[in-house]
Amino acid sequence: METANGISRSRLAAWVELSSVRTFLRTPLTNPADQQHRIWLIQHHGLYSAPLSKSSNQRVVDIGCGTGIWAIAFATEHPDSRVLGLDITLPQPKSVPPNCSFAVADAEGDWSFATEPFDLIYGRMLINSIRNWPRFMKCCLQHLKPGGWLELSDVAHRFFAEDGCGEADSPMLRWWRVVFQESSMSNGIDIDDTYKHAQQMRDAGFTDVRERVFKWPVGSARASTQEEKAIGDLLYQNLQVLIGGVTRTAVQHGDLRGMTAQQAQALADEAKRDVVENADRHGYYMHFATHVGQAPR
Ligand SMILES: C[S@@+](CC[C@H](N)C(=O)[O-])C[C@H]1O[C@@H](n2cnc3c(N)ncnc32)[C@H](O)[C@@H]1O
Repeated sequence: METANGISRSRLAAWVELSSVRTFLRTPLTNPADQQHRIWLIQHHGLYSAPLSKSSNQRVVDIGCGTGIWAIAFATEHPDSRVLGLDITLPQPKSVPPNCSFAVADAEGDWSFATEPFDLIYGRMLINSIRNWPRFMKCCLQHLKPGGWLELSDVAHRFFAEDGCGEADSPMLRWWRVVFQESSMSNGIDIDDTYKHAQQMRDAGFTDVRERVFKWPVGSARASTQEEKAIGDLLYQNLQVLIGGVTRTAVQHGDLRGMTAQQAQALADEAKRDVVENADRHGYYMHFATHVGQAPR
């Protein structure tokens, strides 16, 4: 039997039974990056979804690795792999397994960090980081082994209400468009890039491109499965932090499209309240997507 997102329930149950996963899922998380890591773990029932070969000594790079949480988890789960975590700022993790290392590099630069080809190039939540996706995907293809995989996981820049309410009824929808989407666009982000990744991968020359779009609720009142409930709760918490952080950045950068800083802040406060009071009534939800593509053999 499959869940709404096409994943076998027995696989989910088996994965949740792993004691390391059980412990992790119960640990309270305060860092938003770690909360996002948990959302993706629940979504994929593991660390990745590309059908990697079982060969040992896999060479893996995590582009835009952030705190390094995924790179460290992959290296721990695959002790015979070699994992490179790469970011424009160096992460400072407390402990790092011996098969994992970190480097500072710009993934939109010359890729001089890629001294040998990879089996897996992994990128998560990079939608606000990469400006030129077609070029990025071509670089990835060039630095994969034949048969190697690119996996990208991201949130989409769209926000939805199940009850079809408009911005007049929803400060959250208004905030999303006038602060979040507008400031993304003024930073050169195409807010539909997540939905374009499958085609962009094919255009770059990837084969066997697979797309999974996940629809997840904000809050858990409308959740119908255990995983929807878990992700709904995490999204609900994460959104409060996101609204504050994005508004602060937009105010600092002056990306306010005619609003004053006070108006932007007042709208952010209304949006936070709206999520708390009305997320369940409106049925707020978001899309996440994972795309994998294989380098030709
Ligand atoms: C939203 S965070 C995602 C972190 C991590 N992938 C995760 O899922 O927890 C985006 C990361 O990409 C990094 N980044 C932004 N632009 C980059 C670039 N051009 N090259 C490499 N990393 C970049 C940022 O420093 C940040 O750590």
